[in-house]
Amino acid sequence: MTSSQAIYDVHNLVIDLHTTTASIRAVDGVSFGIRPGETVAVVGESGSGKTVMTLGPLGLLPEGVRVDIRGEARAEGGDLLTMNSRAVSALRGRYFGVVFQDPMSALNPMLKVGPQLAAQIRRFRGADKTTAKREAINLLRRTGIPDPEDRFDRYPHEMSGGMLQRVMIALALAARPPVLIADEPTTALDATVQAQILELLRQIQREDGIAVILITHDIGAVAAAADRVVVLYAGQVAEQGAVMDVLTQPAHPYTRGLLASVPDFRSGNRIVGREISGSPPNQIKLSPGCRFADRCPLVQPECRVHRPLLETVKQSGGDHLAACPVIAATEVEHVVA
Ligand SMILES: Nc1ncnc2c1ncn2[C@@H]1O[C@H](COP(=O)(O)OP(=O)(O)OP(=O)(O)O)[C@@H](O)[C@H]1O
Ligand SMILES: [Mg+2]
Repeated sequence: MTSSQAIYDVHNLVIDLHTTTASIRAVDGVSFGIRPGETVAVVGESGSGKTVMTLGPLGLLPEGVRVDIRGEARAEGGDLLTMNSRAVSALRGRYFGVVFQDPMSALNPMLKVGPQLAAQIRRFRGADKTTAKREAINLLRRTGIPDPEDRFDRYPHEMSGGMLQRVMIALALAARPPVLIADEPTTALDATVQAQILELLRQIQREDGIAVILITHDIGAVAAAADRVVVLYAGQVAEQGAVMDVLTQPAHPYTRGLLASVPDFRSGNRIVGREISGSPPNQIKLSPGCRFADRCPLVQPECRVHRPLLETVKQSGGDHLAACPVIAATEVEHVVA
C-alpha cells in the first residue's frame, strides 16, 4: 500500500520496552497501513504485541516502562514518532478514537455517563451545552443503547458490561475521528454481546466511513468483522492480507494453527492445520531465526538460522504476504472437499 492511499501508515515499527529488570523487543519490524473506511484486524496470542504495536505510537503505553520506539507511523501528513508529545496527544481522540478493553479505564465511576460523553463532544467539537447533550443522546442511541435519555443520567456502575462497552465506543466517536482503534473490545463480554458489539463497529465503519483497527485474539471473529488481517507472532508479522485470502489460503503454519482451533474452520473444506502446542518464545532471549520454529510442525534446520522475510503468497497474489520460506518453497496445501 502506498502512503497516499493509507489514512494511517506504519512502517518498520520497532518497540523496545525496558523495565527495571528486563528489556524486551515487543514489536519487531511491523509494517501495515489502513485505508479510509476499512477494518483491519490485528490477531495474535496474548503477549504477541497487539496492544503495544497499536497504542505505542499514540503514547498510550503503561507507566513504569521506558519505551524506545523507532520506525514511522504516519497520519495526517506527519510522523507520530517524531512529533512532540503535545502534538501526539492532540491527535488522540480527534484523529484516533480508542476503545479500551476495560471501559472503566476511560470512564470516571463518580460521574454519570451522559455528562462524560457530552464533555468529550464539547471538548472536541466546541459545541454548546445543549447541543452537546443532544449529540450525546444521539450517540448513545446510535451505539444501540436503549432509552438513551434515561441512560444519560446513569452512573457507570448502573450499566451492564455490554452497555458500558457501547458507551466507550460512543466516547471514542465523540470527536468523529477518521480512525477508531478497538483493543479487544469484546473479551469481557459473553458471546452474544460480543457479536453485537462487533456488528456495531462494522455498522459504524460502513455508515461513517471510519477506518477501524480491531485488535482481537479470536481469528474466528475477523471473517465477519474485518476486510484485512495482520497476524502477529512474538512481535513480528507472520502473515497479512485480505481476510478471505488469509482465512481460506493461510500460508503461515501459525495462522493455520490459529484457524485449526476455530470450530467453524475445522469443518467443510477448510481443514487447514493442526492446533498449536507450546507457548510463545521468551522475548528477552530470542534466537536469530523464525520465532515460531520451536512450535512449528514444518520446521527445517535453516528456520533456526535466518529470520524469514514477508513474501507474496503465490496463490493469492496482491498484498497477501507470509513470512515462511518453507511454505513459500512448496505449494500452499489446501484441502478441497
Ligand atoms: N507494562 C509493561 N511492562 C513490561 N512488559 C510489557 C508491558 N506491557 C506489555 N509488555 C510486554 O510486551 C509484549 C507485548 O505485549 P502486548 O500487551 O502488546 O501483547 P498483546 O498481544 O496485546 O496481548 P493481550 O492479548 O494479552 O492483550 C509482551 O511480551 C508483554 O509482556
Ligand atoms: Mg493487548
